[in-house]
Amino acid sequence: MLTIGKLKLKSNLILAPMAGITDLPYRMLNRKFGAELAFTEMVNARSLSYSNVKALEMLGSAKGDRPLGIQLVGNEPEYLNRAIEKLHKYKFDILDFNAACPERKVTAKGEGAALLKDLGKLKRLLKIMVRESRWPVTVKIRAGWEKNSVNARETAVVAEDAGVSAIFIHGRTRNQLYSGSVDYGVIKSVKDAVKVPVIGSGDVLSAQLAKKMFDETGCDGILLARGALGNPWFFREVETYLEDGTIQERPSKETVVKTIKYHLNSSVKCFGAKRAIPAFRKFFCWYTKGLNNVRPLRVAACAAETKKEMLEIISKI
Ligand SMILES: Cc1cc2nc3c(=O)[nH]c(=O)nc-3n(C[C@H](O)[C@H](O)[C@H](O)COP(=O)(O)O)c2cc1C
Repeated sequence: MLTIGKLKLKSNLILAPMAGITDLPYRMLNRKFGAELAFTEMVNARSLSYSNVKALEMLGSAKGDRPLGIQLVGNEPEYLNRAIEKLHKYKFDILDFNAACPERKVTAKGEGAALLKDLGKLKRLLKIMVRESRWPVTVKIRAGWEKNSVNARETAVVAEDAGVSAIFIHGRTRNQLYSGSVDYGVIKSVKDAVKVPVIGSGDVLSAQLAKKMFDETGCDGILLARGALGNPWFFREVETYLEDGTIQERPSKETVVKTIKYHLNSSVKCFGAKRAIPAFRKFFCWYTKGLNNVRPLRVAACAAETKKEMLEIISKI
């Protein structure tokens, strides 16, 4: 259904890379509910080349965690080279390059979305990655830096020229961050300009909006990002809607509770309670979105320190 370089996928619904979110337990949970291709969190090439412990940890995977993409961010050829050398000791299926991250601490170093302002450099970096990587290389871009410099079409052509096997495009500018609406027209212009698969991203927050992304842009696949937060059922929901136009019923409260516990247990097993519990608080809030009378539980979850405390709060949902 979707081919990226030598990787053949059955599904064109992809779990987006999300820093601080798409760790191993989160990926496995989404896979359990229908995700196929998933991505690691964004890994800094320089940190990885120095074997920074946190960067190495982000490469952690397990049986069943495939197909898996690794996303690098950086802007120095030397560190990208060294990072890729390190990556070759691991099993991945795709190597993605981040030219989309809008965070000031990233763009101030000329990385992430800042590369949309220097296409010559972006091309040089992508060429190096294509040359050095044993996996298909892809790139994630945004519409442009700001509304007066929308250049996704040009960026995509440059990236295709550099040899990338697919283009992921978030249809917002860097300056929009995550606000305002996604520009379907700019994604369509990318799709019309290149031969490699184009995967659309932005505001895929419901099954209907997923269909809209395909309909308006003609894209080959879509990224599921914020729509999947606290909602691992989103993959099946979108798949079913695209197949026959029906909307699946929301899972029962029992299923939600069981899923939260499963997610919590696998996070604690992977990272230990001291790290997993604080990181889990945000997930609790996402899982309980739309449920009645959850405010006191959310307040309690945000103060929970141990697995026992968190489980007790979950049981009260
Ligand atoms: C918390 C969070 C972290 C993200 N981290 C990354 C990242 O590390 N790399 C990346 O390419 N995109 C990242 N994104 C962007 C998403 O992959 C996606 O393109 C964006 O959220 C738009 O899709 P949506 O509107 O459907 O959420 C992140 C988004 C969120 C909400």
